[in-house]
Amino acid sequence: MNDTLEEAARIIAGSKNLIAFTGSGISAESGIPTFRGKDGLWNKYNPAELATFEAFINNPKVVWEWYSWRINLVLNAKPNLAHEAIARLENAGILKVVITQNVDDLHERAGTKNLIKLHGDILIARCISCNYKERLSESPRNIPPRCPVCGGLLRPDVVWFGEPLPTKELKAATEAARKADVILVVGTSGVVYPACLIPFVVKNAGGKVIEVNISESAITEIADVFFKGPASRVLSALVSRVNELLKK
Ligand code: APR
Repeated sequence: MNDTLEEAARIIAGSKNLIAFTGSGISAESGIPTFRGKDGLWNKYNPAELATFEAFINNPKVVWEWYSWRINLVLNAKPNLAHEAIARLENAGILKVVITQNVDDLHERAGTKNLIKLHGDILIARCISCNYKERLSESPRNIPPRCPVCGGLLRPDVVWFGEPLPTKELKAATEAARKADVILVVGTSGVVYPACLIPFVVKNAGGKVIEVNISESAITEIADVFFKGPASRVLSALVSRVNELLKK
């Protein structure tokens, strides 16, 4: 790993506009299941029955029972060394923005400030009939939860399959990718559009792609540097080396 580490650390230390793009793999070591690959959620559950608006309308109770289980996983999880390494890079003024597909709050709890959440936030519930929203500090007691303002159904404030990404976040992420000279891609299979296009925007604009994953992904073909390993170990070593290079 040393040569790869050295090469990636030099690219990052020399970057002018580094951004990060993360997927569920960065939260795997915090005990939050990924969606694909070994033990992936979509190996056990059918996304069409749990992660579409139609499934929710047909069976809000079943969908909320599944999301309550995921909400409790997030609330009981802690940021891992990978989230902390990403926050350290931002703190050092090297990393400008984190674009995440994740709906957990582990980047925020690790201290990341400039964060774009492309797929929403599992800890927010919003009304499907009015614009009421609330932050959840625990999974809802009544399932399905009802809007206290209009009595309508509350839904998790996440992007389901077949739904558009939030316009403001997608625009901000695309603009950040266009300006980036380096993108650090961590823990994503790179197969869900349009989010997975972000690393390609950087590549097509002449930027460098550094990928961290325990196995190859759909992004690996465009990676200038590919680290095969768990995000917590790789990112901790990478950020320490970057700091050494910048101290010189
Ligand atoms: N360190 C680094 N990478 C890891 C680790 C780890 N410890 N554990 C797993 N991975 C990698 C897997 O090899 C895989 O490539 O993380 C990736 C997870 O891929 P997915 O489960 O497909 O998650 P993600 O890419 O974030 O999915 C994108 O799909 O279902 C939708 O909305 C959901 O946001 C999600 C989107």
